[in-house]
Amino acid sequence: MTVGVRVPLRLADAHGRVATDLRVSLTDRCNLRCGYCMPAEGLPWLPTDEVLSDAEVLRVLGVAVRQLGVTKIRFTGGEPLLRRSLESIIAGAKQLRTHAGDTPELSLTTNGIGLDKRVSGLVAAGLGRVNVSLDSLDRERYAALARRDRLPAVLSGLAAAEAAGALPVKVNAVIMRDHNERDVVPLAQFCLERGYQLRYIEHMPLGPQHVWDRATLVAQAEILALLGERFELTPAAEPRGAAPAELWQIAPDGTQPGGLIGVIPSVTAPFCAACDRTRITADGQLRTCLFSRTETDLRGPLRAGASDLELAELWAGAHGRKAVAHGIGEPGFVPPDRTMSAIGG
Ligand code: 5AD
Ligand code: SF4
Repeated sequence: MTVGVRVPLRLADAHGRVATDLRVSLTDRCNLRCGYCMPAEGLPWLPTDEVLSDAEVLRVLGVAVRQLGVTKIRFTGGEPLLRRSLESIIAGAKQLRTHAGDTPELSLTTNGIGLDKRVSGLVAAGLGRVNVSLDSLDRERYAALARRDRLPAVLSGLAAAEAAGALPVKVNAVIMRDHNERDVVPLAQFCLERGYQLRYIEHMPLGPQHVWDRATLVAQAEILALLGERFELTPAAEPRGAAPAELWQIAPDGTQPGGLIGVIPSVTAPFCAACDRTRITADGQLRTCLFSRTETDLRGPLRAGASDLELAELWAGAHGRKAVAHGIGEPGFVPPDRTMSAIGG
């Protein structure tokens, strides 16, 4: 008789993809009100008892890494810096090892407010990198987009991330027609000068209903045309792989250094075929896609005493049913009911 060696579970779906990158939202709350994400008045926040506790978050992360082979964890929100225990969650996550003995790579997507005071502690706890959202360098336009006058706080957060060695520093910018197209070139100059990796993100139908419109989408082609008026661009040789950004090399000139710049064309050139992501919301719901209209409850079974293996099997089973693509632009597409702040970018 052979002793059964359990084959490690993985998050494989019916379309040949295996998810190894987990986005975990730590709160649905946010201190900004970006127009593409939240209504001006905010949203009803989740009641505290519905949000996973620190111990529950670490339990879920343990299942993902140890049982399911997740190798990358990104902490998101809402605004994840609003979670006071972020440092200890990161320290706990850093202790986890996959079956193969790998330590997960840990990163953070943040709006940057308060990052200046916390980033060195986060890095000491095990954080590798940060992505900071920044849609304009003009204080008034920033305040109009985010509905809060917080640009100086974001800029000091970025500088602190660089100083703390959370490298490479990445910047995410959502470009919206009649709002911040004129920020495309200045954002690139700012990032090239500092060695930050900038990614423009196509506006996705995820925010408050009626904000998104295909006609007002500033598509990848248009962003590249705006950049082309100022810079010499060539497609970067690196293959795109599972990373959603398409990369371009900007040539240095007399006034600015060169560097890589990316566009995440989620709408006009979706990367679903290479997607390696799985997501957990702050209230412990599993989503196989940003645009899923269904979720699988992990919190209920977790609180009812399910074992790690049972949770892993539930997760792997749900992931096996992951849709082939998000279908934006196809007839019958219906956006999810939750906004990005409640799903977790
Ligand atoms: N479309 C595109 N990007 C969005 N984000 C939030 N909502 C949307 C949307 N509707 C971005 C934020 C941040 C990241 C977490 O997601 O700007 O960079
Ligand atoms: Fe907050 Fe991010 Fe949403 Fe802006 S996009 S309101 S920073 S969660």
